[in-house]
Amino acid sequence: MLMNTALSKSVESDREHIVIKPSMLYVGTPVVLVTSLNPDGTTNISPMSSAWTLFDRVVLGLTSTSKGRENAMRERQLVLNFPSPDLWQKIEAIAPTTGRDPVPPHKEKIGYRFESDKFDVAGFTPQAAELVGPLRIAECPIQFEAEVVASHEPGGEWPSDRPENFRIIEAKVVRVHAHRSIVMPGSSHIDTTRWSPLLYVFRHYFGLGPDLGRTFKAEA
Ligand SMILES: Cc1cc2nc3c(=O)[nH]c(=O)nc-3n(C[C@H](O)[C@H](O)[C@H](O)COP(=O)(O)O)c2cc1C
Repeated sequence: MLMNTALSKSVESDREHIVIKPSMLYVGTPVVLVTSLNPDGTTNISPMSSAWTLFDRVVLGLTSTSKGRENAMRERQLVLNFPSPDLWQKIEAIAPTTGRDPVPPHKEKIGYRFESDKFDVAGFTPQAAELVGPLRIAECPIQFEAEVVASHEPGGEWPSDRPENFRIIEAKVVRVHAHRSIVMPGSSHIDTTRWSPLLYVFRHYFGLGPDLGRTFKAEA
C-alpha cells in the first residue's frame, strides 16, 4: 500500500512516543499569586498557575474549595501578581496553606494548614491597589488589577470520587502595574531581557532560559 510522506513520517515518529498517564498536565505556565478580599477586609494570597490571557481578559482555574475562588466569586475583584524566579521560596512557604478555616479534609490529609496572614508567612509587602479592593504584592514586578466578568463549571463528566472540582473564572484586566526596572523607558513595553516569569513545570519551579527569537508581531 502507498503511504504519503507525512503519514510515513508520522509512523516513524510513533516509535519515539509512548503513551503515559501523568497524574497532572502542568506542562509549564507562569505562577500567579492571586490576591482576593476576605469577608473581614483582609487580603488572601492564592498561589496558582492555571491562567492564560487574551486581549484584556485573563482566564483562571481555581479549585472549588479554595478561599481564593470563594473570595473572587463574592467580591468580583482580584489582583494577579506575577512573581519573578527569585521569589519561589517565599511562594513555597505559603504553598501548604489555605485561607479556608476549617481546612477542607482532603487538604488537611496532605498537610495543608489554615493561615490568616499569608503576607506575613511569605515575607511579602502589601501595597494598595488603585481600582480594586485586594492588596497587591510589592515584590511582584508585574501586577494586574482585574474584575470578574464571567465564570462557569468545567464541562463534561466529572469523576464523582474527586473531593473537589474547579471554577473557570474570566476577569477583565483594568489596570497593569509594572516595576520600572523591567519597562523600556518612555514606553509601555516590557523589556524581555529584564523580565522572567516564574514557571511551574510538572510541580517544579523554573525561570526562563535564553531568548530564542521573536515572533513577527513582537513590538520590541
Ligand atoms: C505553584 C502553585 C500553583 C498552583 N496552581 C493552582 C491552580 O492553578 N489552581 C488552583 O486552584 N490551585 C493551585 N494551586 C494550589 C493552591 O495554591 C491551593 O489550593 C491553596 O490552598 C489556595 O489557597 P486558598 O485556599 O487560600 O485560596 C497551586 C499551588 C502552587 C504552589
